[in-house]
Parts: sequence; structure tokens; C-alpha cells
Amino acid sequence: MTDVAGILGVIGAGTMGAGIAQIALEAGWHVRLHDAQPGAVGRGRDRIADGLRRRVAKRKPGSASERAWVEERLARLSDAADPEAATDGADLVIEAIVEDLAAKRALFARLDEAAETRTILATNTSALSVTAIAGAAAGHPERVLGLHFFNPAPVLLLVEVIAGEGTGAAMLDRATGIVTAWGKTAVRSADSPGFIVNRVNRPFTIEALRMLEAGGARVGEIDGAIRADGFPMGPFELMDLVGLDVNVAAATGVWDGLGRPERLRPSPIQAWLVARGRLGRKSGVGFYRYHDGHDPVPEPLPHDVARPAHDGHTVAPADIVRRIRSAIAAEAVLARDEGVASEADIDTALWLGAAHPEGPFAWRRRHEHTIAS
Ligand code: NAI
Repeated sequence: MTDVAGILGVIGAGTMGAGIAQIALEAGWHVRLHDAQPGAVGRGRDRIADGLRRRVAKRKPGSASERAWVEERLARLSDAADPEAATDGADLVIEAIVEDLAAKRALFARLDEAAETRTILATNTSALSVTAIAGAAAGHPERVLGLHFFNPAPVLLLVEVIAGEGTGAAMLDRATGIVTAWGKTAVRSADSPGFIVNRVNRPFTIEALRMLEAGGARVGEIDGAIRADGFPMGPFELMDLVGLDVNVAAATGVWDGLGRPERLRPSPIQAWLVARGRLGRKSGVGFYRYHDGHDPVPEPLPHDVARPAHDGHTVAPADIVRRIRSAIAAEAVLARDEGVASEADIDTALWLGAAHPEGPFAWRRRHEHTIAS
């Protein structure tokens, strides 16, 4: 690996900040890490060290040269006492603090004051407007943009590069070049609710929930059909993994942001589960019940929440797949027509960011003869 190293400032040493710092260290960059909470940078450093060791363990476990590689990388990680120190001399600063607009705006106002004009200031926000965050960087809003990494950041290849209204083209190109040099695949997205993945993939869960509400199919049947189509997990397994509370917040945020279109209205089943603490794996029960050492089993839902599915009247597996994938393809077409992203970038994003076996446009082209347009 070459050591054409730059300097990265990371603000926020939690799950995403630590993951992003690890990526840059692996690529030979120097990283300055700041967190507002005492002890958080130390915990971030431990997590980064673990991550680097796991990387090495895959190659040559226990070898002296690999241990030296880890130590050399960690020596390039320094603690920054405040955001200004993290910004000092940096080529790029990535913010990964709490998902709160006021907190991010306050930070970007400070970063704007402190950073050299050549420094790119990026937010890793999942759902907030990049333009609204950039508005706080009154001096040089053209160098503010979104770099949306996915969790776990060191593993998942996708980065959505998001242009706010005032972002400069040269800054976007530089940021794209940096994440590409780090081994990531960059896609360009407009500053629109959910960007690409969190918007276009909404129907993956919404359409499955609609079938469940209407008694069209059972939880296990839908997940089984989707897995058989090449997805690593079905929509209910995914919601249980992510957490129903997190899922419903994301679904509601995108729905609100797009003006509450009927097609993306969150399902009452999600709210019902959250209200009862059935949050998925983390609470031991969601759509499935999780027992240590046993396969998860679907947990019943009352009939006024999800109509019972009747044998002989349920949707066939091929139709389950067609309904879900058509709804995703329709959302992809809307996003493309609204100028959110290109067809190629939408396909890449759903493949690398949501583990689809192929992107919605590629799927649509293969099934054109069977989809009503
Ligand atoms: P986290 O809760 O693991 O870490 C956030 C860190 O920021 C904490 O250590 C906290 O002490 C620190 N912090 C909070 N306010 C701060 C401030 N004003 N200045 C400095 N440090 C501050 O959160 P996580 O999951 O890493 O998320 C960070 C950002 O990344 C959020 O905007 C989130 O929406 C986004 N994101 C999260 C993903 C995920 O799956 N967790 C995926 C993609 C984006």
C-alpha cells in the first residue's frame, strides 16, 4: 500500500467515527480524533485497534510484520482536544456526531472558522439535509458536503457522496477521489431525503409489511421467498436486526421528508411492535422470537394488526418477490427522474449498500416483459 497520506480529522468517536478513522489509517493517512464525551476517544481507539488486528488476522495471523503494521497505523492516530485541533492542517474533516441538526450546525460553524479554505468539511449524516448543515458554515459553504458511509464502515464498500445546494464541483471531485483511494466505491447523490439507499430501499420493508397487513403471506414465507431470490436476509429478519425503533424512525423520516406519499406510509404494524417493546433481536422478540441456541421462530401478531394468511389464498413466492422488487424499481425510477442519482449509481448503491443481488434497473431490464409500466 502506498503512503500518499493525507490528514483526516474525525469528530465523533462512536460507531461510525471509529470505523471511518480505521479506513483512513488502513490507507496510510494520519487521523486526529475528537469527541465531546470524556473517555470516548479512548474507547474509539480500542475499537480501531481491534478492527485493525482483525484485518491483519485474516492475512497472516500472529506474524511480526503484521503486528508492526498495526502499531505503525495506530501511531498515526492522535487525540484532538477540540474540533479545532482535529481540523488543524487537515485535508478532510468528517463529522460523525449525534444525529441532531442544531448540534451539527454548531459544530460546522466552528469548523468553518478553524479550517483552511482547502479543507473539505463532510458530514456523515444519515438523514439530515446537507444544505441545512452547510448553511452554518457561512464562510465557505462550497467545501461542505455529505460522505455517507454504511455500518460497519470498514467492511461495507459504498459511500454516498452528497452535494448540498452550495457544494463546489471541485470539492466533490476531491472527496470522491479520496474515498476511492481508500478502496471505497463512491456514488453521487443529490441532497434529498434518504439520499439513495435509505430511500430507494424503503419498499423492501414497506411492501412486505403491506402483504402482512392484508393477510397475503406470512412472515416466514416472505423472508423465505426473498432469501431464495438471492438476498442475504428477508425484510422481517432485516427489521429485527436493525431494530424496529430505528427502522420506524428511518421510515418516518424519509416519508415526512418526501411530503408523506401514500406509497411510503409506515405500517401500523411497526408502531404496534415498538409500543410493546418488540424491537427485534436486541429485545429478544420482534417479528421473530430469539432463544439462545435455537433458530428464531415467527412470533404471532394479533388478527386486528395483521390479518391471518389462509393456505391456498396466499401470494405465491414468485409473486412476493415480484411485488417487492417492482415497488423498489418504481421508487428507483422516481428517484432518477427527480435527479437524485443516475441509474448506474442507484444500481451500484443498492447492490453495495443494501446487498441486493442486482440493482433495481438491472432487475427491471430483465423483467420488462412482466412489469406493467
Ligand atoms: P454514536 O452514538 O455511536 O457516536 C456518536 C459520538 O459522537 C459519541 O461518541 C458522542 O459522544 C459524540 N458526540 C456527540 N455530540 C458531539 C459533539 N457535539 N461534538 C463531538 N462529539 C460529539 O453514533 P453513530 O452511530 O456513530 O452515528 C454518528 C453519525 O453517523 C450520525 O449522524 C448517524 O446518523 C450517522 N450514521 C450512522 C450509521 C449507523 O448505522 N450507526 C450509518 C450511517 C450514518
